[in-house]
Parts: sequence; C-alpha cells; structure tokens
Amino acid sequence: MRKLIAVSMLALAACASEPATAPSADMAASAEPAAVTWNTLTGEPPIVIAHRGASGLYPEHTMMAYETAIAQGADFIEPDLVMTSDGVLIARHDIYLSETTDIADHPEFADRKTVRETPFGEQEDWWVDDFTYAEIMTLKARQQFEGRPMEYNDTLDIVTFDEVMDLVLGEAAKGNIVGLHVEAKWPGHYTSIGKDLTDPILDAMTAKGLKAAGIPVYIQCFEPQFLASVAAKSDLPLVQNLVGAPYAAIMGLEYKLEDISTTGVGADVSYVMNKDGTPTDFVERAHALGLLVHVYTVRDDRPSPGFADSRAELRALFDAGIDGVWVDFPATAVDVRDSK
Ligand code: G3P
Ligand code: CA
Repeated sequence: MRKLIAVSMLALAACASEPATAPSADMAASAEPAAVTWNTLTGEPPIVIAHRGASGLYPEHTMMAYETAIAQGADFIEPDLVMTSDGVLIARHDIYLSETTDIADHPEFADRKTVRETPFGEQEDWWVDDFTYAEIMTLKARQQFEGRPMEYNDTLDIVTFDEVMDLVLGEAAKGNIVGLHVEAKWPGHYTSIGKDLTDPILDAMTAKGLKAAGIPVYIQCFEPQFLASVAAKSDLPLVQNLVGAPYAAIMGLEYKLEDISTTGVGADVSYVMNKDGTPTDFVERAHALGLLVHVYTVRDDRPSPGFADSRAELRALFDAGIDGVWVDFPATAVDVRDSK
C-alpha cells in the first residue's frame, strides 16, 4: 500500500510539472508569486521535530523545553521514553541518570549506583529502571551539552509521558495542533528484565484520547522488533531509526532500505549528506521505496561536517528532499523552512 501511494504521488507530481498549455502574458502578469515546491515524498513541507524539546535552550525533556518548542512553531515534539521500576513512562533520552539529572548530588542514592554491560561497554551509573516514579520525581533535570544555558539546571522536573500528552492535548484544545514523535528507548532491555514497553505506550495514548483529539503521532525506535510489535497492535505510522555510521559499524549493523517496512526511516545526517556538504542519494533511494526520511539531529551550536552553520545545513537537507528533521533549536528550522 505504501508503495502504491508513493507511485501515485510521483505520477501526480509528474502531471503537475507539465501544464497542457503555456501561460499567456496576461496570466503571467497577474500570477501569484511562484509556489514553493518541496522535494519531500508527499510534496508537503518537511516537518520540524523538536528534539527532546527545545533542548538547545533548556534541559532536555523538561516542560520548559517542550513548551518553548511549541511556542517556536515546532510541528512535533519528541519524547524519548523509558520506564521506572514501578512501570511509569517518563521522558528521558537515556536509561541512565548521571548526565541529565542531579542524581549525583543525592546522597540517599549514592549506594544505588551499579555497573551494567551496555552495547558500548561497561558503565557504572544510576539506572532508571532501578528507581520508582516517586524517587525519580525527587530529581531535577540538567543540561548535558557544554556551551548551552546552565542556569536552569537543578530547577526543572522530570516529566512523565502522561504530562507530555496533556501538554499537546491542551494545545489542541486551544486550536494549535502539535504532534508527538515518540521514541521507545531500549525496549529490548525492558524485555530482558521481564517488562514490556509496547502495551504501556499504546495504552497510555489510547487512555489520553490522542486519536480523537487529532494529535498526529509517529512511533520511532532503533529496534525493529519493537516496531514490529507496535505494527501488530496499531495502525500508527512507524519510523525505523538507523544507527549512525560509526556506531552502526561498531554494532555490526547493516541496513537495507528494501527490507524496511515502516512508514519511514530516522536517519543520521551522515546518511543524507557527505562530509563536504553535498547530498548522497539516500533520500532519492528511500523515496523510491515510498519511505519517509526524517533526519537527526541539526544543532545550531554543532553544525554537521561540510556546513558553516545550521541554517546552511537545514537548507541543504530541505533541498535534498527530507520529510522531517529533529532539531535542538526549533526556531531556526521553522524560520529556514518558512522563508524558502
Ligand atoms: O530518535 C531519533 C533522534 O532523536 C536521534 O536519536 O539518540 O537523540 O534519541 P537520539
Ligand atoms: Ca530520540
């Protein structure tokens, strides 16, 4: 079905590009400014996804970060989800707590630090699934990237998935539709400790009535098994995240776009752009297969190789035809897109 839709859209685009007759001089004189065209799969403008909220400005995954992203015009906000020991979904990028919270300053948790084996080696840390929701709620969030505002550190709460959904539902009630680009983090780990992320995420969204409220939702994950389990239980659009080139090689991952059956892929910038700032053929190949391409992550303070700044990077990505982009500074991406 996805391929049929893509082929139909390509056929329509081909028709639209070849008018039956040349416009007359009168028509040209009265014509509106030329419409902006996009090389996206659908021809619609690419979506701006606030990566962990406006995480360049505020500690990631805090209400302040999400609210700022919405105020700046992001189309989607992105909660990464992990689960506490008592089954509460919270918005955190990492399954460990040392880098984005003040847990190291909580003496009552000092003896809860443990060593775990991770795909990147041994790590001693505090792990989300060792803590109850009540314990997590005693922590405050921190900015983890050097050079970013630090004055909000230790002032903002960790938020739950329910609270993030309430935020977009509140916006929808005011007539502002903002989508959720939801990422399940390390579902395979949860399976290994006898827990499941699929049903809790889907059930939480159903309980909140996101569909009835018209909230657009994507579910994304790096683990195909999780996405398959979601596909078996819902018709939500899914995005298969692709591990970036250096880590993919370390982890022995090799992706074949032809084998991917999700609505789209979440690709590191390096899949789409060469180090000299020229585009690869990735978007073209993905679109030919009917796959949306969402790209992570563009950062004003850390442009990718080949680009002087994030505005140049965003322009190049949009020209390459990407369908969406995760950004730490949503205002920049919204402005670059809307001033095309
Ligand atoms: O989820 C895709 C995008 O957010 C980049 O991945 O590691 O920042 O969650 P990550
Ligand atoms: Ca993410």
